[in-house]
Amino acid sequence: MMDDAKVSPPAFASELFAPIAPTYERWAHLLSMGQDGRWRRAMVDGLGLSPGSRVLDVAAGTGSITRLIESRDLDVVSADQSLQMTRMAKRRGALAVLAAGERLPFSDGTFDGVTFGYLLRYVDDVSRCLEELVRTVRPGGVVGMVEFGRPNGPSFPAWWLYTRTLLPAAGAVIGSGWWEVGRFLGPSITAFAERYPPARLAALWEAAGMEEVRFRQMSLGGGLVMWGWRK
Ligand SMILES: C[S@@+](CC[C@H](N)C(=O)[O-])C[C@H]1O[C@@H](n2cnc3c(N)ncnc32)[C@H](O)[C@@H]1O
Repeated sequence: MMDDAKVSPPAFASELFAPIAPTYERWAHLLSMGQDGRWRRAMVDGLGLSPGSRVLDVAAGTGSITRLIESRDLDVVSADQSLQMTRMAKRRGALAVLAAGERLPFSDGTFDGVTFGYLLRYVDDVSRCLEELVRTVRPGGVVGMVEFGRPNGPSFPAWWLYTRTLLPAAGAVIGSGWWEVGRFLGPSITAFAERYPPARLAALWEAAGMEEVRFRQMSLGGGLVMWGWRK
């Protein structure tokens, strides 16, 4: 089993996402077979925040989750460590800051909610990062996450075949940085899912200061959505 540092050194994430920023949304949607939008919507639907609430979207990338939150009349700021992804988010109308999930430039309890999509596979210390995310949420506020999952049961062989052969092949055809993404994604999802199955991840959320943590596995286990409330 790989340890966190080998799965996801932070500098690696910067290099991985820089070249794909302009094409990220189009290809991410197609390569997830149109499923990623469903997972994001389910996560945002479950936040249960009232209009005008303040939300921080971390690892916001080009702002897919940020815009969804905004469409619910919530007040949202996005943060990402990649300059190129943050530029795209701004171009698409987000109020976006360049910041790492491990060191957020916000005071304790600033937000009613914090969201993050596809962040934890890229951080060195998952527990510390969760603590930092939770720090910025007020007591009683909500945290929501979207992440890939590894299907179990009969759909596993098809998922494995897709992520180990078709995804890298599609990445090679698309080019412009997608070959690296296509090769990286399957092993990264597997390593994270083995180390942090949903119940273990939920326990880490609780240890970081959240309660009533619940999760939903979607698309036969290919997507994982999680919510928790700050104690
Ligand atoms: C796959 S993209 C997801 C973007 C967006 N959340 C979405 O749902 O489309 C992952 C993003 O995480 C960002 N990221 C990776 N590690 C990070 C960290 N430690 N702090 C902040 N952002 C990070 C990357 O720059 C990239 O933009």
